[in-house]
Amino acid sequence: MDTSLDFSTVQAIIANKAVKVEALIDSYADKKEQLIALLQDVQVEFNYIPQDVIIKISQKLDIPLSQIFSVATFFKAFSLKPRGRHTITVCLGTACHVKGGQRLVDKLARDYHLMPGETTEDEKFTLEAVNCLGCCAMGPVVVVDDKYEGQVTPDKLDKILKKYE
Ligand code: FES
Repeated sequence: MDTSLDFSTVQAIIANKAVKVEALIDSYADKKEQLIALLQDVQVEFNYIPQDVIIKISQKLDIPLSQIFSVATFFKAFSLKPRGRHTITVCLGTACHVKGGQRLVDKLARDYHLMPGETTEDEKFTLEAVNCLGCCAMGPVVVVDDKYEGQVTPDKLDKILKKYE
């Protein structure tokens, strides 16, 4: 199946996004103090906060860029880099590390070209590594979005991720 888009379709999608962003920012014209809510809406729309949208917010709402960046970088829920539709969290805490957590990270790097803190090119997955998820007996633990998986092996990880294809 050919999933490529022609140039005019891509242009239409970009134009549609631009109109949406303008309307979203305009809806906060009288609510500049609700910057966090605006950034949350942007994050929902794009799955991250694009730099050009930050500049547009600054220009349209007359909010200093430094203030917007400071809010956008303070809260962990916000991302300034594109994020995948699904977040894979691999635990590399001591208990999970001993039980093979690093092999899972190595597999994701080798087979999915995915390093901690990065997103796959198709924007399907973002990988995060953490130090403990509080369920060490299940280790090594992987969480995809909100679903916890225990005793994960590299082969099992493949099967888990296939569900998100
Ligand atoms: S070390 Fe992985 S859950 Fe605690």
